Amino acid sequence: MTLEYINKKRPSVSPELDPCSNSNYKDFQVLNTELDISVSFDKKIVLGQVTYKLTAKTPNTTSIVLDTSYLKIIKIRINGLPSDNYELVKRKEPFGSPLKISLPTTINKEFELNIEFSTTDKCTALQFIEKEATDGQTAPYLFSQCQAIHARSLFPCFDTPGIKSPYNMKVKSPYACLMSGRPKETNEEGVYCFHQPIPIPSYLVALASGDLASAPIGPRSTVYSERVGLSDCQWEFEKDMENFIQVAEGLIFKYEWLKFDALILPLSFPYGGMENPNITFATPTLISKDRSQVKVMAHELAHSWLGNLVTNCSWEHFWLNEGWTVYLERRIIGGIAAAEAKSLGEKEAAQYGEKRRHFSVIVGWNSLVDSVKTLDPKYTSLVWNLKEGSDPDDAFSRIPYEKGFNFLFYIEQQVGGIKEFDPFIPYYFKKFRYESLDTYQFIDVLYEFFEPRGKAAKLDAIDWKGWIFGEGLPPNIPQFDPSLADECYRLVDKWVDFAKSNSTDISGFNESRDIGNFEPDQHKLFLESLTEKFGAYSVSEQIIRKLPSIYPFYAASTNGEIKSSWNELLIRFGNYNTTDQIVQDFAMWLGTVGRMKFVRPGYKLLQAYVSKEFAISTFTKFESSYHPICKTMVKKDLSLI
Ligand code: BES
Ligand code: ZN
Repeated sequence: MTLEYINKKRPSVSPELDPCSNSNYKDFQVLNTELDISVSFDKKIVLGQVTYKLTAKTPNTTSIVLDTSYLKIIKIRINGLPSDNYELVKRKEPFGSPLKISLPTTINKEFELNIEFSTTDKCTALQFIEKEATDGQTAPYLFSQCQAIHARSLFPCFDTPGIKSPYNMKVKSPYACLMSGRPKETNEEGVYCFHQPIPIPSYLVALASGDLASAPIGPRSTVYSERVGLSDCQWEFEKDMENFIQVAEGLIFKYEWLKFDALILPLSFPYGGMENPNITFATPTLISKDRSQVKVMAHELAHSWLGNLVTNCSWEHFWLNEGWTVYLERRIIGGIAAAEAKSLGEKEAAQYGEKRRHFSVIVGWNSLVDSVKTLDPKYTSLVWNLKEGSDPDDAFSRIPYEKGFNFLFYIEQQVGGIKEFDPFIPYYFKKFRYESLDTYQFIDVLYEFFEPRGKAAKLDAIDWKGWIFGEGLPPNIPQFDPSLADECYRLVDKWVDFAKSNSTDISGFNESRDIGNFEPDQHKLFLESLTEKFGAYSVSEQIIRKLPSIYPFYAASTNGEIKSSWNELLIRFGNYNTTDQIVQDFAMWLGTVGRMKFVRPGYKLLQAYVSKEFAISTFTKFESSYHPICKTMVKKDLSLI
């Protein structure tokens, strides 16, 4: 990973080696993977076998090394013959135990490797939920989350985004199952089969099982959830899903995966969404009954091209997945806004779409500024260095999303705007689909595409080094249309003037006039900017304590985005203690959501502004309901490990 790579013709396959995998994946090509597993809800394990059809790329390969983490290896066969010639090497954090299998000297270039295995109670990819703790309370539930490096705790694999395989997946369970492929008919009772003909990396393997029901949300989309909440889930997405797909297809090219389905998970799902192919997993906090968070679905859909077809070759280049996806998500949302404003005339509608997109640029920029302030600087560069054994879960933040987005937005403006940039999008995606690439290859394609179009000087003017390796904020600040943000800032200024005036007369504020016409993201921008400004002016707790009666809409909101920003504002400056209702209610809420975007800042807030003891005792009370990944991250945040 040196700068010399930049602007030099590079090999078509990334020479970058994934530092987060112990495997020797560079020595092999995976022709096919068969995953054949069964779920034991009694023992809380998944057991079964995986069969790899492999080609050795380098002659005289003497061993194959796979990633495992807390797995039990039961039996290994090479070309059908049992082999004892393997070693499960001692675990080293955070990358697990390499499984080193010796290959017979007589082995052909192409061979089959079969491994029988079982997960253990330490598995970090799976969460089993007792029947009583599910919404329907009719069946227990199981779901997986493999990104970034948890697939190795579900099955032995080359656990790197740098290598892909088509899959056949088969799972036996007493309850309905979904996996990340196209469902296939079977006659076997309690058995569910899926075929994934498009090669995917291990982190996109996914499994869920429980009392699942389904409803259509578009001509090629179905939503699944526990039976009880199904119709709300359907309502939330049915208006937008197909439109999203069509706008994305217009920007890139045809959706290749046939169906885009979504599964709404129990509350402990640790992310907003996860782009498992054919079956995006999503948090139930999206079901806000006002369609205000559908952009998460636009984001996961965009991953169908970016991440799932064109993939970062290692987690050091994670921004290639997420920055690009945020870029497309915002283009999709802008495109939908333009379509909805059609009656204004074509040009005006397009301008309106852009104005909406530019608003999301500001929201994104603010969250980038915030992240840079609080993060370990080494994780604020666009390309990470994970070679010292860093866990990608620790490096995870808004940086790859927002710095990545800003990088692309800047390149877009640099080459002359969306008209000029747009033809590059299908070019890039076609060139790298089914493959994994690094940042330097991405820059090469930019030159390859824009140089013949007379834009080389524009690209040369970009401070590549600063953007890619620089810590903190990027070298260029985005230029955007400020109109929608200005409405929020005006209200913030009014509050700040009021706070400075020492007046107690709040009659100048009025909920419906102040915030009645805000879009969902405008609420967020208003609350976050107010928090920032109140921090700088040390606002009095009397003012803060009046806020809930002035803005009952915020106080009553069940929308997670609003709830977390609102409580941050109150708890940071309201000087509440553990017995106050605001704090009690917020702590209770933290016990009901498992989405790390809300849970982690929530505990940090209690720790910093109420008390560390209270944060820890609240966490201890709810710990057992959280997903293993979330549990570990909160423990790190509260210095419990
Ligand atoms: N792929 C990510 C989630 C993820 C990232 C899981 C890294 C594990 C490791 C997903 O696409 C995502 O970005 N989700 C966001 C949605 C948002 C940006 C709209 C989330 O969960 O908040
Ligand atoms: Zn994403």
